[in-house]
Amino acid sequence: IRDILIISTPQDLPLFNQLLGDGSKIGLNINYAEQPSPDGLAQAFIIGKKFIGNDNVAMILGDNFFYGQNFTKKLLDCSKLNKGAKILLHNVQKPELYGVAKINSKKKITHIIEKPKKFISNYAITGLYFFDNKVIEYASKLKPSKRGEVEIIDLLNKYKRNNKLSADFIGRGGAWLDTGSIEDFYKTTAFVQAIENRQGLK
Ligand code: G1P
Repeated sequence: IRDILIISTPQDLPLFNQLLGDGSKIGLNINYAEQPSPDGLAQAFIIGKKFIGNDNVAMILGDNFFYGQNFTKKLLDCSKLNKGAKILLHNVQKPELYGVAKINSKKKITHIIEKPKKFISNYAITGLYFFDNKVIEYASKLKPSKRGEVEIIDLLNKYKRNNKLSADFIGRGGAWLDTGSIEDFYKTTAFVQAIENRQGLK
């Protein structure tokens, strides 16, 4: 994947642009689009409609961090998806903070719930999603939730109802962290520092 659309607030978008430019220095083609107000993750596919065109698409949330030896291979596999949607799951101690998936013995998803109050599984839905081109149509038909956002979980449920939602697993050798709070940002920074300092490698 070399064509990237960065979606952010009108305030933050120019800073990303300043930092990354058109991406050509690192072999990427980077575009920018504003999300005027925080109306939900699924809105990315409406804002990005023209950018996506007739292609399939992946979305990664800006506060998600992934690390692992086999991760590149996994991503290459996921990017070959040509029908349906694929999510990446990872074990977490506090599933109530995330979208969560319950899976059966055949590793098929039976339930997905956003921030469940009652325990259903330890598998969090990480912020990296792969979709076929139908995502544009599905996203544009979503109704805002009670909190006024078009929800990623509703989009995933649409695929699930059509039997088109599959899961892959990062596995216990891989790390998934998020940087959405100062504390989590600090932990992620410490993780990177520990590994880089020890190995002398980026
Ligand atoms: C969002 C999604 C949630 C997902 C999480 C991953 O939650 O709604 O399903 O598990 O990202 O980081 P938020 O970070 O907006 O609370």
